Amino acid sequence: MKRTCSALLALLCCSLIPACSRPLPTRCVITAATRVDSPPALTPLAEYITDYLPVGTAEPDKHTNSIRLTLDTTLSSEAFRLEVRPSGVDIAGADYGGIFNGIQALFRLMPSEIYAKQRPERIELTDTILTDRPRFAYRGMMLDVARTWQSPDAVRRFIDLLAYHRINKLHLHLADDEGWRIEIKSHPELTEIGGFRGGDSPVRAVYGKWNEKYGGYFTQAEIRELIDYAAVRNIEIIPEIDLPGHSRNIASIHPEIRCNYPPDTVSTNGYDYRSAWCVAREENYALLSNILGEICELFPSKYIHIGGDEVDFSQWKRCPDCRRLMHRKGMTVPSELEDYFMNRLTEMLAAHGKHPGVWNEAAASGEFTHDCLVYGWQHVKANLDATEKGYRTVVMPGEYFYFDMRQTPQEDGHDWAAIFDAKKVYGFDFAKLGFTEEQMQHVVGLEGTFFSEAYVSHHPEQPDYLDYMCFPRVCALARIAWRGNDEGWDAFYRELVDEHYDRMAAMGIRFRLFPPKITYRDGVFTAATDDGSQIYYIKEGSDDEHRYKRPLHTDQPHLYRFFTRYRTARSPYVADKSYHRTIVPAFTLTTSMGESSSTPYSNAEKYKGLSRTRRACRQQDWIRYDFANAVRCREMYLQTGNRQLPKTIVTTGYAEVSYDGERFERAGELEKGSITLHPDRPIKSVRIVSTCNDNGTPYVTIQPPRIKPIL
Ligand code: ACM
Ligand code: ZN
Repeated sequence: MKRTCSALLALLCCSLIPACSRPLPTRCVITAATRVDSPPALTPLAEYITDYLPVGTAEPDKHTNSIRLTLDTTLSSEAFRLEVRPSGVDIAGADYGGIFNGIQALFRLMPSEIYAKQRPERIELTDTILTDRPRFAYRGMMLDVARTWQSPDAVRRFIDLLAYHRINKLHLHLADDEGWRIEIKSHPELTEIGGFRGGDSPVRAVYGKWNEKYGGYFTQAEIRELIDYAAVRNIEIIPEIDLPGHSRNIASIHPEIRCNYPPDTVSTNGYDYRSAWCVAREENYALLSNILGEICELFPSKYIHIGGDEVDFSQWKRCPDCRRLMHRKGMTVPSELEDYFMNRLTEMLAAHGKHPGVWNEAAASGEFTHDCLVYGWQHVKANLDATEKGYRTVVMPGEYFYFDMRQTPQEDGHDWAAIFDAKKVYGFDFAKLGFTEEQMQHVVGLEGTFFSEAYVSHHPEQPDYLDYMCFPRVCALARIAWRGNDEGWDAFYRELVDEHYDRMAAMGIRFRLFPPKITYRDGVFTAATDDGSQIYYIKEGSDDEHRYKRPLHTDQPHLYRFFTRYRTARSPYVADKSYHRTIVPAFTLTTSMGESSSTPYSNAEKYKGLSRTRRACRQQDWIRYDFANAVRCREMYLQTGNRQLPKTIVTTGYAEVSYDGERFERAGELEKGSITLHPDRPIKSVRIVSTCNDNGTPYVTIQPPRIKPIL
């Protein structure tokens, strides 16, 4: 235990010199002399407290008080009673979780610095009596370590952040098309090969990283440590192996698990796209039994998540073995093959006393066992359906709870489910969305997710992507899972700003602030915030940040972007609408990679959407834009691939411009398949030239140019 010399001296002085004595405090004061008293079963919680508070490092004196932890079985599960008096703190809970929740309630009465583990010397608390209990038994967050590997230290940090918010389940997405992250001792190849992508790995780097081999996995020993670490913090880890789809990774290592037909590698650039397990191949169940057996032995959780989402049935339809199995079993639709497969897995789990967690598709037919947890991810309706069928459901529709979605249209992230911020998460309202009282009986709780396909932004000057995407959305999720939203957004927002922001800063979270409010009128910009953050602006053409102190006079509003900072946090940029204005000059598109018939050039030429090439790119392949009339502009953004999902980009290459449509000169290197040009003359043509051989997917996606006019 750490004890400084001066603390020791002070201690000696106090015990020897009577003048040192002070009147008994009238408020509760936590100091080094404070003791934590707990029964042996709660020792981990006593130790947890000492990580944050200055307790137990000095000899007791007459001011010594205690933080007393006691079990009280009259309380409901995870409920607690917290009493703060001059004589100390009493935390009673029905169970370990209740006391942990009471400790978090106590921490919230303290200065936010305690979350930085600075263990302040003296903490004064006012008298408080507080009882509380959770709304839902399941308050979860999913972390995808399959797409982007995250080390045990990173996961431990994430567990801490969730624990502060009284989230009590960590759903770990351990295997997907892009990675296998958990050691299976009977099949070490799954991680030795499947834990890494890129380079010489047969598992392709699909998102973000290209040539280098990268990745990692948890050894079973590391997972045990994580399980224990989480358990101390009242968090249960629920592992997921996503089956039978999302299995391209393991199928790259064990191609024999795939359906029995020749791969369509011509149209897919040599890349075998079959990603589902063959249902008819009996040996597959032996392999799965080994894998799930080890998972069941490793994880104490009652539920093991076995996936069940987004299965591409076309593979089973093409497979003679799967078709024969359907015929033999009298099945009429391929979804019955999924029922069959998932039931086989359920039997394997049952042999270990475990039950399945599944994504909502696996329970859509209603035929799947009801002794499971259904995770309703696709939309609200999927949750209404699952609860209607009587399934115990973890409610997590993507349009409210997928924290990989971007938060405003201009920010990073996906958008397929919705674009939303913490306010929308907080506003999730079961009754308004049509959940009846009967259906609510089947809701076990709520879960947020962080899928990590786009977890590639680690610019030193940008907030960490994981933190930025998850916080404060996790705060809102945690609040509605714990208590609901009866107090209303305005009250919760004030609490966020007045309390959570400093706590999150002390926790080291690089969270997202809400953007400042800006107006531009009569040649004057004004910007304002109501959260105590500082406002900055940048002017196009430079990265210099200027502190906004007073209204800004300009007749060029399209050149300015504003944002805010507060301690570890920052907001997204906001700008006047003129900043986003674009023009759509006519152009023709051609490429050396050929035109896809399903997504022709005309999609991009009409600025309607995406076009695709017919094949992947090779060195010296090109994409060319010829404008009908030379274009004068202040900015031209050329992009390959989909925004934020850059798997179909020209991986490496450069752009060339031509002012006469004939002679081209090099204008710069592509970065993540894109380039922004700032031409000083009218442009007649531009060309993207590939320097990569193969972009890892069967085609390149072409976007229309985004062109900002000279204003
Ligand atoms: C999922 O997002 N496919 C569960
Ligand atoms: Zn098959």
